[in-house]
Amino acid sequence: MSFKSEIERRKTFAIVSHPDAGKTTLTEKLLLFGGAIHVAGAVKSNKIKKTATSDFMEIERQRGISVATSVMAFEYNGYKVNILDTPGHQDFQEDTFRTLTAVDSVIIVIDGAKGVEPQTEKLMEVCRMRKTPVIVFINKMDRPSKDTFSLIEEVEDQLKIATRPLSWPINSGPEFKGVYNIYDSSLQLFNPNVQEIDPGIKFENLNDPGLEKHIGNDAGTLREELELLEGVYPAFSEKDYLEGNTAPVFFGSALYNFGVQELLNTFLKIAPTPRPRPSNERIVDPYEQAFSGFVFKIHANIDPNHRSRIAFVKVCSGKFERNKPYTHTRLGKEFRISSPTAFMAAKKEIIDEAYPGDIVGVPDTGNFIIGDTLTDGEIIHYKGLPSFSPEMFRYIENADPMKSKQLAKGIDQLMDEGVAQLFTSQFNNRKIIGCVGQLQFEVIQYRLEHEYGAKCRFEPIQMYKACWIKSDDKQAIEEFKKRKSQRMATDKFGRDVFMADSPFMLDMARGEFENIDFHFTSEFDA
Ligand code: G4P
Repeated sequence: MSFKSEIERRKTFAIVSHPDAGKTTLTEKLLLFGGAIHVAGAVKSNKIKKTATSDFMEIERQRGISVATSVMAFEYNGYKVNILDTPGHQDFQEDTFRTLTAVDSVIIVIDGAKGVEPQTEKLMEVCRMRKTPVIVFINKMDRPSKDTFSLIEEVEDQLKIATRPLSWPINSGPEFKGVYNIYDSSLQLFNPNVQEIDPGIKFENLNDPGLEKHIGNDAGTLREELELLEGVYPAFSEKDYLEGNTAPVFFGSALYNFGVQELLNTFLKIAPTPRPRPSNERIVDPYEQAFSGFVFKIHANIDPNHRSRIAFVKVCSGKFERNKPYTHTRLGKEFRISSPTAFMAAKKEIIDEAYPGDIVGVPDTGNFIIGDTLTDGEIIHYKGLPSFSPEMFRYIENADPMKSKQLAKGIDQLMDEGVAQLFTSQFNNRKIIGCVGQLQFEVIQYRLEHEYGAKCRFEPIQMYKACWIKSDDKQAIEEFKKRKSQRMATDKFGRDVFMADSPFMLDMARGEFENIDFHFTSEFDA
C-alpha cells in the first residue's frame, strides 16, 4: 500500500463523555465491530469509580488497565481505526485535554435522560478551541429520555455548536421503537431481546404506508417531527462538520448495540483523516516524507520494580521507523527507538513502522516530557494545548528529611508525566502543587511514597487562580513583579505566574496594571 493510502485510511479519534453516559460501553461495542475483542465485557472500565477516592490499590489497578486501553487500534473495512481512551474521572481532566491534542476528531456521548452535563461542556470547549470535528451520540434511548427537540436545543445552547441530526428516535424508554436514519431513509426497529445488527427497512419516502405497519400511530408523529426538522435544519454539510462548525447527531443505545453500526459507518465515511498540524515554526503536513511526532501522554512506573515509562507519541508526518535516529528537538539529541510498541486489539506489540495518525508507545527512561517533539532532523516544536490554571493549590512539603532527593526526583517526574502542575514561589522558594481535583493530591502522595520512597505533606494555601502574565511593556512587568513579589511564582518552564488569592485581588491587579494581560491558560511549549 502506498504511503498516501496508508494515511488516508487512518481515523484517529477519542470518545468522551461525562462519567456514566456510556463511553466505555460504546467503545466496547465499536471494538466488537472491529473484531478487536470478541465478547462484551472485555474492555475494563478505565474510570476510577467515585467510591474509590481513597482506595489506592484500585487506582493502581486502574492505572494498569488504562495503559492497556490507552490506545485501541483495529482494522475495519479497510480502515485503520485508532481510538484514544480518556479517563472519565473529572479529577484527571487535564489528561483528557491532552489526549484531545492527539486526535483528529471526537465522538461525544450524552445520556439522553441527563442531557448535557458539566464535564461535556468543558470537553467541548477544548474541541472548539482546536476546531476538532465532533459527532454527538445520544445514548440510553432505551430509557426514558428528554424530549428530542429539547435535547438537540440543549446540545446547541450548552455545547455552543450547531447540530444536524442524522438519525431520529421514535420515542424512548419502554416505548422506544427504534430510530429513523435520515441520511438513507431507513427505519431500524429496536428489540431489546435481539442485539443482532439489523440492516433496517428502507423507504422511498416518509409517506410510505409501510411505516404504519412497523411503528403504528407513531408514524404520524415521526413524519411531523421530521418535517419540522427538515424545515429548520439545512442539509448536512461535510465541510461544516470538518471545520468543526456543525456536529452531526445520532441516537441509540450502546448497551443494546443499537444505532452503533450506523454511527461507526457514518463516522468512517465522514471523519477526517490525519490533518496538517501547526508547530511553532510552520504548519506540517502529514503527507510530508520526513517523520515528525509529539508526546501527548506519559505513563510512568507501570511496573514499580522496573522504573518503566512509556511516552505516547502521535505520528504527525512521514513514516516512523524502528531503530532510525530521530531528533529530540527540546534536548537537541538523537534517539533510536529499538522497541516501539503499538496497541493492536488491546495488545501491546513491537512494531517496525507507523504512519501519521498512529500512536507509538516509546519506552523511556526519563528523557521525555509532555509536549516533546521528535523529528527526522528538522527543528520544529509542536504546539501543545495550553495548560489551564488549576482549581486547587497546596504547598508540598518534605515529611522525611532523609529522603529529600527522592522527593525532588519524584515530584519532577510526576510533573513531567502531567499528573499535576508545579509552581515555585519566587518569594520563599516553596513548592506549590496545583490540581483539578482532590484525588490528584492523594495520587501524588501515594505514588511518591510507593514509587520513590519519599514522604510528603500538603499544607493549605489561600489561592484562587494561577495567571500567566504577559505584556510588551517590560517595565510594567518588572514593576508588577516587585509590587506583588509575595504572590509571584515560576511554572515548570520558568515562566512568571501571578498566584491570585481571590477574584477581588485579581481585579485589583488588572485595574492597577492595565498594560499587563492575565491569562488563565498557557502554552506548554511556548
Ligand atoms: P462511562 O464509561 O461513560 O462512565 O459509562 P459506562 O459505559 O461505564 O456506562 C455507565 C452505565 O450505564 C453502565 O451501567 C452501563 O451498562 C450503562 N449504559 C451504557 N449505555 C447504556 C444504554 O444504552 N442503555 C442503558 N440502559 N444503560 C447503558 P452499570 O454497568 O450498571 O454500571 P454502574 O451503573 O454500576 O456504573
